Amino acid sequence: MAIAQPAARPANPRFSSGPCAKPPVFDLVKLSGAPLGRSHRAAVGKDKLLAAIEGTRELLNIPADYKIGIVPASDTGAVEMAMWNLLGERKVEMLAWESFGAGWVTDVVKQLKIDAEVKTADYGLIVDLASVDFANDVVFTWNGTTSGVRVPNGDWIAADRAGLTICDATSAAFAQDLPWDKLDVTTFSWQKVLGGEAAHGMIILSPRAVARLESYTPAWPLPKIFRLTKGGKLIDGIFKGATINTPSMLAVEDYLLALDWARSVGGLEGLIARADANAKAVFDFCDAKPWIANLAEDPATRSNTSVCLKFTDARIQDGAAFAKAVAKRLEAEEVALDVGAYRDAPAGLRIWCGGTVETADIEAMLPWLEWAFEAEIPAQG
Ligand SMILES: Cc1ncc(COP(=O)(O)O)c(C=O)c1O
Repeated sequence: MAIAQPAARPANPRFSSGPCAKPPVFDLVKLSGAPLGRSHRAAVGKDKLLAAIEGTRELLNIPADYKIGIVPASDTGAVEMAMWNLLGERKVEMLAWESFGAGWVTDVVKQLKIDAEVKTADYGLIVDLASVDFANDVVFTWNGTTSGVRVPNGDWIAADRAGLTICDATSAAFAQDLPWDKLDVTTFSWQKVLGGEAAHGMIILSPRAVARLESYTPAWPLPKIFRLTKGGKLIDGIFKGATINTPSMLAVEDYLLALDWARSVGGLEGLIARADANAKAVFDFCDAKPWIANLAEDPATRSNTSVCLKFTDARIQDGAAFAKAVAKRLEAEEVALDVGAYRDAPAGLRIWCGGTVETADIEAMLPWLEWAFEAEIPAQG
């Protein structure tokens, strides 16, 4: 039975899982302090890049002896750089439970041709974390953006490991607690939880990751864009703002604005609380409606950023077509943009709940989701 359209609309209908909604205070005018048309190696540029690095350290509580670098090619660049520089020294375990993790498996097995032990789980599930052997290097995604399944915490990671952990945390950083003592390489992109711009990735190295870089040379060639060492020593400048190649100072200015906003909402704790509140609004909605459910089966693994949903109503004839039609309806009404499931993921919706999204907007959007669902059931061919 069709229902009437809700009276209220979200003030901001942007629920994309990347690039994510800009911080609520965002205004292009606020980027006018960017040193545009200047060398990024001039003092003004280097100061901004260093502020981005040290602001990241402050907000994410990254230990003083960890190195933080701004690198090319967004999160993908940072992950690839880590894998190509570090892997091959010992056995590798690859953990994957959605598309991005699966992509890293492909690169390690097919491109680097490493005979890795690959552990995978279907969308909605997670691999057996207790089975991981930390004598090996372990590559995993903290929050699987395309399935909405995250690791519950870092307790499963051995404190006294011999191998390195390489963690793609792009949809977790600034929304979930990351235990730095358990993470040797951590990567993320500005375009995710803080609603920044893409282009640049962040790579965070533990002292053990630096020791590996300085003691091991991979058998394969490394393009300049990936190189973190010179003559067997870490290129320290990269971790002080002397980037490998030219960064966008506009994107840097935008990230600095996002960091300032993050401070204004209570820093990491405030950001986590905002994401938790957003996700809870969606979880509560699913609990109250018999026709929709979280794709993540175990509540302990449910993402508070990329919340993935599946329709469970028996009247649905073609799951993929139905989900697409609901997303299209929401988009046409401009009440929820970009909420279709990722192209390789099971049919459904994905609602970004990171801290730049306002809980009031999630709450205003959900009745529209019910409206679109009820309208689409009789509209099926
Ligand atoms: C888990 C994960 N890894 C990697 C990427 C790729 O990020 P980027 O496009 O910033 O390189 C994404 C993007 O959504 C992601 O969610």
